[in-house]
Amino acid sequence: MSEIAVIGGGLMGHGIALVLALGGHHVRITDSRPETLDAVPGLIASALDTLREAGAIEPAWTDERVNGAIRRSLDLTETVAGADLVIEAITENPDAKRAFFAELDRICPDSTILASNTSYLDVFPLIPARRQARAVVAHWYTPPYIVDLVDVVPGPETDPTVVAFVRDLVVGLGQVPIVLKRFIPGYVANRIQSAIGAEVYALLDEGIASPREIDDAIIHGLALRIPILGHLAKADFTGLELLRHALTNASYEPPKARTQSDALDVLCQEGRTGVMSGRGFFDWGDRPPAELFRDRDRRLLALKKAMKEVGRMEGQ
Ligand SMILES: NC(=O)c1ccc[n+]([C@@H]2O[C@H](COP(=O)([O-])OP(=O)(O)OC[C@H]3O[C@@H](n4cnc5c(N)ncnc54)[C@H](O)[C@@H]3O)[C@@H](O)[C@H]2O)c1
Repeated sequence: MSEIAVIGGGLMGHGIALVLALGGHHVRITDSRPETLDAVPGLIASALDTLREAGAIEPAWTDERVNGAIRRSLDLTETVAGADLVIEAITENPDAKRAFFAELDRICPDSTILASNTSYLDVFPLIPARRQARAVVAHWYTPPYIVDLVDVVPGPETDPTVVAFVRDLVVGLGQVPIVLKRFIPGYVANRIQSAIGAEVYALLDEGIASPREIDDAIIHGLALRIPILGHLAKADFTGLELLRHALTNASYEPPKARTQSDALDVLCQEGRTGVMSGRGFFDWGDRPPAELFRDRDRRLLALKKAMKEVGRMEGQ
């Protein structure tokens, strides 16, 4: 059990705090905005409701027990005092992160491990030189209490024992760490998602298929095999010689990364910005966003349960 401080109680911070508390750790959380910090227990209670309803956690994890394991404070020094690990989940802004790590350097003992949840920023140049050996990326996905993947990424000078500590911590949470060799923006999953996005926007903008048809192709074609095989085990089943041949004789070129999509522009101009506005590519009716998120999470948890039962192929 570790003492862990989470800095930033927004979308990611409150979810990471919840995962850590469910892992049996002592958690402290702070945010520079009092309203955000005040909202944390309610958001955690709502996430716990969803998890309990899906049978993903024992009923013994009551709101009181979990929120009791997460100490809230508006004071950074108090939040990090005695913490073995500080997880930074503040706004994705290089100046804010640089100033924050300088402040941490002033108040944390040398032994504290400093982890960042950054998605796209290379934080290592933003962290004081003398802290580099104990700095690491620990990147959760949203919502962290449902998506198990955590990217663990060392900087150029990170001590391997620090990487091992964070990797083991993630395993102890029942989640799935992948340790990358070095920082790359977007890590692995977001990069693959970006490649899919580039293709999807090209198909839409060229009028080849409708949003419904594209999602049908993904859900009923691509996605069915992915939970069992990922991409590379699927390649083994296809046969690598065939895939090698397909690469050399490609009859199709993937679209270039785009900086704009007509389909997205039109929807945004019409105020159809997605679930939060009730409509995006699809019409979500009059259901409030909170209900839609809950419905999505219930389905994700049911799928996770089924994936656990089905398991992975032996040898993978
Ligand atoms: N949103 C996602 O899907 C997602 C996924 C993975 C990683 N991330 C990364 O996690 C980090 C946080 O993202 P988020 O989506 O939770 O953002 P968010 O805006 O929801 O939360 C950030 C919080 O940090 C607080 N904050 C800002 N500066 C602070 C400071 N100096 N001290 C204390 N609190 C401070 C803000 O008040 C805000 O509540 C970013 O680096 C982001 O790239 C986001």
